[in-house]
Amino acid sequence: MNNVYQGREQTEAKHIILRRYLQRLAFKTLLGGWSNLAYIDGFSGPWESRTEDHSDSSFMIAIQVLKEVQQKARELGKKPSIRCFFVEENRQSFAQLQAAVAPFHKPADGFTIETFNGKFEDAVVQMKKTMAGSFALTFIDPTGWTGYEFEKVKPVFEHTPGEVLLNFMFDFVNRFTASSDPVTLATFDGILGPGWKQRLDASSLPREEALTAMFNEQFCAAGRFKFVLSTPIEKLSDRTHFRLVYGTRSAEGLDVYRDVEFLALKDHGMRRAHARHSLTETRSGQISLFDAGHDANMAGQTIEAQLVATKSAAADWLRGQLPNCPKPFSEIWPAMLDQFMMRKVDAKQVCVDLGKAGEIRETWRMGGSKRRTPSETDLIHPA
Ligand SMILES: C[S@@+](CC[C@H](N)C(=O)[O-])C[C@H]1O[C@@H](n2cnc3c(N)ncnc32)[C@H](O)[C@@H]1O
Repeated sequence: MNNVYQGREQTEAKHIILRRYLQRLAFKTLLGGWSNLAYIDGFSGPWESRTEDHSDSSFMIAIQVLKEVQQKARELGKKPSIRCFFVEENRQSFAQLQAAVAPFHKPADGFTIETFNGKFEDAVVQMKKTMAGSFALTFIDPTGWTGYEFEKVKPVFEHTPGEVLLNFMFDFVNRFTASSDPVTLATFDGILGPGWKQRLDASSLPREEALTAMFNEQFCAAGRFKFVLSTPIEKLSDRTHFRLVYGTRSAEGLDVYRDVEFLALKDHGMRRAHARHSLTETRSGQISLFDAGHDANMAGQTIEAQLVATKSAAADWLRGQLPNCPKPFSEIWPAMLDQFMMRKVDAKQVCVDLGKAGEIRETWRMGGSKRRTPSETDLIHPA
C-alpha cells in the first residue's frame, strides 16, 4: 500500500482514516441494532489512482470495508443491508467508476450501488432516497472549496442517524479568501456564510484559526451536529494542508473517531507538532498528522509523549469545570474529547490522576468497588 501512496501522503492519511472509521462505524451500527447502512461518496473519483482495481480510491476502499463487515455481521446472525451512492461529475472518471463498481452491485445479496454522473449538489434528492431508513455516512472529498454549498446539501447533512466526513481544502481557502476579485470572494459564501469577510476582518483570532472556526461553525449548523472535530493533515513537501472535518450528533461517534485518529498517527510514526496550539485551542486549533516538525521541542517526541502534554491541558480544563460539578463522567468525557485531541481512555486517565492527587473524589472506587477508572454514571466531584 505504501508504494501506491508514495508522494501522496495526504491521500494516504485521508484513506487510512476513512477505512478505519468506516469499519468501526459499520460494525457498531450493523451489530448494534441497525440493519441498514448507507455510504455516500459525493466526490468519488477515481482521481490520481495508481492501481488497476482502484483499491487506492475512496469508493473501492469503502466497498471492500463494507463487504467485509457485511459478511462478518452475517456470520453473527444479522441481516445487514448496505447501500452505496457514488457521485462523480467528470464523464471519463464516471465511466471508470461505473465499470469498477458494477461487479459489486448485488441487490439480491443486500449490497446495492447507485452511481450519479453529475454534481454532488444536484444529487440531493436521490441521495436522500438512498439514505432513507439507514444509518448514513457521507464522505465529501472535493478538489477545491466549491460543489458543496451548505444551503444546498443540508438535507444530506441533516439526515438522522448520520454523520459527515469532509475534506476541507484549507490552503486553497486560506489563499483565495485573500483574493481581491469579488467573484472569487463570493464563492465562499456557500461554506463560510454570508458576510464572512466582515466577520473575518473583525475576528481577534489569527486568520487561519478564524477561517477554520468559521467553517466549522457553518458545517456544524448545516448538519445540526453536536460535535465537530477537525484533523489537520499536512504535506511534507510543500506544507500544503487540508483538514478532515468530522460531524456527528453522537458521543459514541466522537469516541470512535478520536480512537481512529490516534491510531492513524501512531501506526504511521507521524508527529504531532504545534501541539501547544491544541492545548489552548478547541475546534479550530488542533494538530497535524503530517507535519514538517518545525517545533523543535515536539519534533522528536512520540505520540505518547505528546499526549502527556495534552492530558495536562485537559486536566487544567477539568479543574476549571469543577465549580459546576458534580457531573457524571458521561458528560465530562465528550466535552473533553471535543476540545482536546485525545481518546476516552485518556479522559479516564485524567480523572484518575486528579483523583489520586486528591483534587476530585475517587467516586468510582467508593462502596468497596475495585474499579480503577470512572464509568459513565460515576460523578466527577470536587474533593
Ligand atoms: C479529490 S477527487 C476524489 C478522490 C476520491 N474521493 C478518493 O479519495 O480517492 C475529487 C473528484 O470529484 C470530482 N468532482 C469535482 N467537482 C464535482 C462536483 N461538483 N460533484 C461531483 N464530483 C465532482 C472530480 O472530477 C474528482 O474526480
